[in-house]
Amino acid sequence: MTASVSTRPTHYDIVVIGGGPVGLAAACAGARRGHSVLVLEQYEILHEHGSSGGAERQWRLQYAQEDLARLTVEALPLWAELEQAGGRRLVHRTGSLWFGDTATSTNEGQVNAAVAVLDRLGLPYEWLAAKDIEERYRFARLPGHYEGFFQPDGGMVDVRATLWLLYEQARAAGARVRDREPVRAIEPDDNGVTVRTEHGHYRADHVIVAAGAFSAPLLRPLGIDFDVELYEMATAYFRCVDPDFDYPTWFAFQRPTEEDTNLFYGFGRLPWATGDLVRVAPDFEVDVFDDAYGASRTPAPRHVKRTADWVAEHMPALDPNPLHPGTCLIALPKDHERQFYFGHAPDSVPGARRLVVHGAGWGFKYIPLLGRACVELALDGRTGYDLSRFAF
Ligand code: BEZ
Repeated sequence: MTASVSTRPTHYDIVVIGGGPVGLAAACAGARRGHSVLVLEQYEILHEHGSSGGAERQWRLQYAQEDLARLTVEALPLWAELEQAGGRRLVHRTGSLWFGDTATSTNEGQVNAAVAVLDRLGLPYEWLAAKDIEERYRFARLPGHYEGFFQPDGGMVDVRATLWLLYEQARAAGARVRDREPVRAIEPDDNGVTVRTEHGHYRADHVIVAAGAFSAPLLRPLGIDFDVELYEMATAYFRCVDPDFDYPTWFAFQRPTEEDTNLFYGFGRLPWATGDLVRVAPDFEVDVFDDAYGASRTPAPRHVKRTADWVAEHMPALDPNPLHPGTCLIALPKDHERQFYFGHAPDSVPGARRLVVHGAGWGFKYIPLLGRACVELALDGRTGYDLSRFAF
């Protein structure tokens, strides 16, 4: 139950802005270290308006950038800890298949560069020709020069179970979570930070901003250049017509067309549920916009049709009729090399060391690590994880 304004405490060691996965993971980490923590979430917990909407996310060790691959490996024990605490599996190792034009560079990586990193890190994979991919994984009519690899440790993350578990763990550790309380202003000074909301204000020693796509308007008045581009990724489910077959998670790297980036990716059946639906989505970075509150939450019909056509052409084990079309709000830094924003606010902001900002990027794999790193940066001034290249 929500406490009334007059009885709630107004000072916290840490105020976390954003009750999504990173915010909740940070709340867990902070409260477990014995600190008073308040999480402020503008919508309801587990809402679908941000970048954590949907049931599943890809889990993969392969990256074109070695530091990101290392970071994923470093996140593994933290996921295991969370799974043990919650008594359920969150990362399901169904394998990860990357294939296509091996030299095509995309925001999601490049097959050849990712293989070089797997080699350098001594991580296993099997190299596959187009005909292997067709025979083993039931893709069809792939261009003959397509190649790729299967990495057995990849798979998918159970998004809703992760969020729910983080929420429960944060509260069990003593964090307060106030949902439907939008933040209106963040005012850091040398002695602390004032956080103004629709319902009042709080003082905090440290503030962690983890509001994803919604962070930019909160940071702009502080002069923080959170330069992200937003787009709504369409998504749809397709019925698998062969009850004895399942897909690993996969990503098809293809040369862009004149209209779009021509990238598609998908999953197998949800290992934590029953049913014969699998998700396939286009990764089209088009129709970019700036304001997260302006999202339409309506999938572009052309994107759904492109996906259904790709499924009809290349995935004979699926009925190409798209079901449950939806969107997911994606926020990526405009500078694609940087991948994320993570760090203290820039020194030009008064009280910068009291403000930790995380946001943007494909971050679900790193959630427990990012939550812990936010708290380490806030309380200790540094984190042991190598996140320096994401700094402001
Ligand atoms: C990823 O694994 O980072 C990813 C997967 C599908 C679409 C975009 C990104």
